[in-house]
Amino acid sequence: MYVCVCNAVTDREIRGAVKLGVRTLDDLSATLGVATCCGRCTDCARQVLGEALTAPASGSGDD
Ligand code: FES
Repeated sequence: MYVCVCNAVTDREIRGAVKLGVRTLDDLSATLGVATCCGRCTDCARQVLGEALTAPASGSGDD
């Protein structure tokens, strides 16, 4: 699902970024460009980010 339409960023990409060390919305904006255009995705991005941060770390095979 697209979270940030302006930058074509999906929830999956956000989860991937969290696995690589992203911890805040600022980090996400800096790495993927989320919420850097119209800003409409901010709430959704924050929610997906929060879920990814609280989800148990999983290895490969969850795709
Ligand atoms: S939808 Fe993310 S900045 Fe516009």
